[in-house]
Amino acid sequence: MTPKHFALFIFILVCGLVSGCSRFPGKPSEAEKWIASSEVLNFDQLYGQNCAGCHGSGGRFGAARALNDPLFLNFIDRDNLRQVIREGVPSTSMPAFAQKFGGQLTDAQIDLLAEQMKSQWGNPEGFNPVSLPAYRQQDNIANGAAVGDSQRGAGVYNTHCSECHGADGRGGKTAGSIVDPDFLKLVSDQSLRTTVIVGRRFIGKVDCSASTSAQPMTAQEVSDLVAWLVSQRPRALGNEAAGQSSSEIKPANAR
Ligand code: HEC
Ligand code: HEC
Repeated sequence: MTPKHFALFIFILVCGLVSGCSRFPGKPSEAEKWIASSEVLNFDQLYGQNCAGCHGSGGRFGAARALNDPLFLNFIDRDNLRQVIREGVPSTSMPAFAQKFGGQLTDAQIDLLAEQMKSQWGNPEGFNPVSLPAYRQQDNIANGAAVGDSQRGAGVYNTHCSECHGADGRGGKTAGSIVDPDFLKLVSDQSLRTTVIVGRRFIGKVDCSASTSAQPMTAQEVSDLVAWLVSQRPRALGNEAAGQSSSEIKPANAR
């Protein structure tokens, strides 16, 4: 080997080491590196591992509400979104994810989930934000609305819902019962409120929400309607089982 060749050999060796030395046999590539679960800050991974099982992969067509829904993400503000993920929904299968509440996710991960759901799923082109009542019934009351009245709610039901869900809510030609005790025991008052306001557009062909019908419901009508639904929940188990707002609601048979 001439000195010239030797220099070339060294040059190639050094280049090889500088550029490729991260690939010694057995050394994991960036993608293969193990990351502690508390360090994961990738939306798809966080969502896929923690939420997709119930809310559907890609945020749709799961057993629980579609989260990849601009109308829903327009309805729930960032703070409430974070709070639901942190604390879960007591007495339902929605778990608490914050470590403080017994979950596995850090605050940074929960912030990222809420942030990315809003930015990736909340505002696709062409979606015009609409004006909706407040996410929480108590905020609605703080804004001056009255508590829900289930007797008025029965009337609201007849006008807006009976066409599909039947005269008394026990099911009609196009949609099932929404006063089934087992159904009402499984869902929180908030979940009923959410369904009444934004519908559940990915479980049926039609949307049963207040915002899309020809005559949109007022915030008060929504509260009355939710009160009517809640008043159908079996009393013994129901009210503290799934509702945080039941105390604000006057049942139809209240004296
Ligand atoms: C074991 C099933 C399950 C898992 C896992 C789960 N959820 Fe849920 N989630 C539910 C159910 C059921 C509800 C409805 C609870 C109720 O009745 O209010 C819900 C409700 C919600 C709501 C409120 C919807 C409303 O009606 O206003 C949000 C937001 C939400 N989940 C986000 C998430 C996110 C984000 C994750 C992952 C970090 C997640 N969920 C994981 C089952 C689940
Ligand atoms: C155009 C028909 C139609 C109208 C009007 C309608 N819904 Fe629905 N609703 C459906 C369909 C379809 C489903 C899917 C499940 C089924 O087939 O029962 C559904 C499901 C529901 C559910 C169950 C959601 C769940 O979590 O499983 C609730 C609660 C509900 N509707 C409430 C209402 C209320 C309250 C009104 C009146 C504001 C209303 N709906 C108006 C068609 C309708």
